Parts: sequence; C-alpha cells; structure tokens
Amino acid sequence: MEKRANFGSKIGAILAAAGSAVGLGNIWRFPYETGAHGGAAFILIYLLCILLLGIPVMIAEFSIGRHAKASTGSSYKVLVPGTAWKYLGYWGVLTGFLIFGYYTVVAGWTLEYLFDAGLNGFIGKTPQDFIHDFQAFSENPIRPLIWLFVFMIMTHVIIVKGVQKGIEKFSKIMMPILFILLIVLGFCSISLPNSIEGLKFLFMPDFSKIDGASMLSACGQTFFSLSLGMGCLSTYASYFSRDTKLVKTAFSVGIIDTMVAILAGVIIFPAAISVGIQPDAGPSLIFITLPNVFQQAFSGAPIIAYLFSVMFYVLLALAALTSTISMHEVSTAFIHEQFHFTRGRSASMMTMGSLMVGIIASLSLGVLKNLTIFNMGIFGFLDYLTAKIMLPLGGFFIAIFVGWYWNKQYSYEEITNGGTIMKHFFKVYMFVIKYIAPLGILFVFANGLGFI
Ligand code: PHE
Repeated sequence: MEKRANFGSKIGAILAAAGSAVGLGNIWRFPYETGAHGGAAFILIYLLCILLLGIPVMIAEFSIGRHAKASTGSSYKVLVPGTAWKYLGYWGVLTGFLIFGYYTVVAGWTLEYLFDAGLNGFIGKTPQDFIHDFQAFSENPIRPLIWLFVFMIMTHVIIVKGVQKGIEKFSKIMMPILFILLIVLGFCSISLPNSIEGLKFLFMPDFSKIDGASMLSACGQTFFSLSLGMGCLSTYASYFSRDTKLVKTAFSVGIIDTMVAILAGVIIFPAAISVGIQPDAGPSLIFITLPNVFQQAFSGAPIIAYLFSVMFYVLLALAALTSTISMHEVSTAFIHEQFHFTRGRSASMMTMGSLMVGIIASLSLGVLKNLTIFNMGIFGFLDYLTAKIMLPLGGFFIAIFVGWYWNKQYSYEEITNGGTIMKHFFKVYMFVIKYIAPLGILFVFANGLGFI
C-alpha cells in the first residue's frame, strides 16, 4: 500500500492549518463584513462565535481527520462504514469546490493589483480614481479571467507537488513574513490623519447595529475564516502525526487567524475613513482603500510607497494561495482516494471544474450582472450560499457526529493523545460540541434566516 503522506513537523502542521485559515477571508472578507455590520459590535459576536463554535468544531474536524487518516470525502466511510454520514463528507467536497471557484476570482484581483503596483500604477491617483478603476476592472470581461486562470494554475502546480514539498514548505516561509508586513502596514494606517475615527469604529461597540443578519454573517465569517465546516482542516489533520496536539493546534490556529483579521481591520478602517471611503463599501473595500494608504502614508517617499504596495500584494496573493491549496486539496485527495486516479489527474479534474465556476462568478460582476438568484448576483449568491449556509450547516453536522454519534472513546483518544494530555479539558469539550455548538448554530440560523 502507498504510504500516507505526513506533515514533517508539528510546527509545519500548525503553519499549514494556519495557512489555510489565514487568507482573503481575513484581509478581504472580514473588513467588508465588519464594515457592513457596524464595526465593533460585529467583532464581539465574531469573537464569541470563534470561541464557542469555531474552536470546538476545529478540534472535532482534527479528531475525525487524524483518526480516519483519510480526506473528508472518504473519512466517514472509514469511521462509520455503511452509514449516511458519508454524505457529510461529500457535502464538504461540494462546498469546497464552490468556494474555490469564486474565491479564486478575488485571488486573481490581487494579482492585477500586484501587477499595477509593480508598474507604479498607483501614483498620483485620487480615492475617486481607485473606486472607478476597480469598477472598470472587475466588470471587464477578459482581464479578471486571465488572472483567475493564472491563480488556478499556481494552485494546481503546488497541489501536484504533494503535501510535504508543496504545502508545508510553502506555509513555513510565508506565514511569518505575512505577519510582519501586516504589523508595519497597521502602523502606517494609524499614522494617517483622522485615523482615530477608524479605530473607534473598530473598537467601540454599538449594539443597536446587531440583528439576525449580522449574527448570521458573524457565524458565517467564523466558519469561512477558520476554513471550517467543509472538512478542509480534517483533511489536513489526516496528515498530522500521532503526537501533534490537536487542542493546542486548534487554539494556535484560532488565535493566529483572529489576530490577522483584527490587524487587517486596523489597516483598513483608519485608512478608509481618513480618505473618505465608506466602511460599508462591500467586497471592493480593500481594493479601493489600500492603494490610498500607500499613496498617503508615504507621500514624501514614493520609493517606500512603491515597495510597500508591491510587498503587500505579494503577501495578499500568497495568503490567498495557502488557502486555495487547502480547498483544492480536499477535492483532489477525495478524487484520488475514491477513483484511484493519480494525484495529477485528480487535480486536473478539480481545476477544470472549478475554472467553470470561477468564470461564471467573475462574469457575473460585469456582463452577466443581470442574472440574479434570490436578488443576488451569482458571485454574491455563491458567497452567501457557501459561507453563510453550507459551511455552518456542515459544522452543525460535524458537531452532531462527534457529540452524539461517534464513539466517545475515539474522541478521547484523539484529544488526549491516548490519555496522556488534556484529560480534564475533554469533558468541557464534549459538553460544548454536544450542546453549545449545535444549538448555537441553530440559534443563528433561526435568527438570521428569519424564523424568529
Ligand atoms: N479560511 C480561508 C480564508 O480565510 C478560506 C477558506 C475557506 C479556506 C474554506 C479553506 C476552506 O481565506
């Protein structure tokens, strides 16, 4: 039998999982969701969701993946053969496939901005110019598709190289660089005039802004940002070694991911308010705000403005890449295990299929604008459906599986590494995964979808 691949080290495992979690979800999606739902109050609910829903479901996914030693698409067939639970695995594969499709569209935008920054294209532009340029670019029928294609190929190549050489090595180098750059940019943003208003927006809660829709968004953002609910981290956990500490890894990933999101907020909001861009500008927010930060914070030193903008888009594209490879891996590993195609062939099938989704999602912002589902364009619909419905629903059933169905002894073995660590925590965890997490998700659904 073919030997199953493994992450080479514990830190490699943590960084690979964190690489999956940290991505456009933190830097692109978190700020615009926060902006649309009123700022600080939304963030508080988000933090609550991370703690009560996100971390427990992550530990559950880790234990499923490592115990089954299979990707999510086949893990339930290994753990509880002959049951309908296998559909939970397929659900994850389908969700990942859809997310990968539209996520790569935005990842492609980062390449366009990198290209533009590299050619020194931001120089001398006003905030109005950036708003106009983004609109023209995202509605263009050709250009975004080229970048979409380039990004898919980059993901594809890394996936074909395999687990340790591709994913792990890559994450190990990129993650720390990303973090340092974000901190530097945070300082730049705070130094802009009037930045205090942005910080207030970010840190002073106004609870009147909270309603069912913002709760659903916070819950969706939790699952999206932590890569949960589709078996992505459970697939990565199948490459963890026996002595990887699941609870510790989950908390590390949760903390890293949250810090990056908050840092992104510290970069975006002071800058947006400083140059007069509304925080609720939607998915275009970082693409119209950031170029201004570079322009204004270093207006006296164009070379620094240039270097920082190039570095930032490199970093954003790389953060997106460590996430796209993790989504891609879910389907590739599944096709490989299920149909016994080579990894290369499995990866090609996934890439080709999701390219179709990506093309439609991208065109839906321009020429296919009038095509709507439930009053949303295709791009918006895919985002809503996957992040706010499919991922939390997947998370709900993962919690039910571990809390109510799966033999508790297996959970115990995984969480305590065979009874050696975290024995007391286990009881707390079981309580949360059995009651709090599923009821929490139901409560959010009931509120957000208008049943209450
Ligand atoms: N967590 C990733 C991000 O924040 C997105 C993602 C979602 C990755 C689902 C994998 C699975 O960008």
